[in-house]
Amino acid sequence: MTKRPEEIALMAESGRLLADVFRHLDQLNLIGMSTMAVNDLVDRYIVDDLQARPASKGQYGYAYALNASRNSVVCHGVPSASEILQDGDIVNFDITLEKNGYIADSSKTYLVGAVSSAARKLVQVTYEALWMGIHTVRPGAQLGDIGHAIARHASRNGYSVVREYCGHGIGREMHEAPQVLHWGKPKTGLVLREGMTFTIEPMLNQGGRAVHTEDDGWTVVTDDGKLSAQFEHTVAVTRTGVQVLTLRPGERALH
Ligand code: CO
Ligand code: CO
Repeated sequence: MTKRPEEIALMAESGRLLADVFRHLDQLNLIGMSTMAVNDLVDRYIVDDLQARPASKGQYGYAYALNASRNSVVCHGVPSASEILQDGDIVNFDITLEKNGYIADSSKTYLVGAVSSAARKLVQVTYEALWMGIHTVRPGAQLGDIGHAIARHASRNGYSVVREYCGHGIGREMHEAPQVLHWGKPKTGLVLREGMTFTIEPMLNQGGRAVHTEDDGWTVVTDDGKLSAQFEHTVAVTRTGVQVLTLRPGERALH
């Protein structure tokens, strides 16, 4: 479950390229764009500009470079030419990128235009929760510490944490061991060791944590129709702490 330094260096390169994809996305005015148009743009950017591969294409029979999960969609939203992003939406773009055989995985929830203060707060708290999880990572910490930090921040703000989907080990494969739950008890679970690489990707719901999958077999939505937000980074456990492999230029860790 651990990787050699040269493997982590390759993953950091994939992560750097993926961060550049998000930098590119950050510059778009999303209002009026279809989620398919965003997908196509990201696909072309990864292939043509970065000479890399959108790792989700072909994985589990999936045909696209990203998942687009809007408003009450929790995760695994499928891009569509008829889904037009509207002023006031929140939308998560979840993207995986492979370069030189190693995969990086990251997602970000965007605020489209003028978003309600309630939606804005959900997105902000979800971002903070991701970082609270990241800050627990160091050799000797345990997976339960990550989940506990995330769930505590969610519940303090009146939000629930989705339990059906979790972070995951990552490397040559998109999904490797271990599973990284976004809830749990401190000082429980797998002990982290230098060289482990995994994602942390909490999904926080405005209402209840219950979710279900729609008839397309992909799209996961909240049962109560309320909003859901998510952020994801790929991290490596270092000798003394954590390296965020998908860190954006200028992104500062929240403490
Ligand atoms: Co992802
Ligand atoms: Co992931």
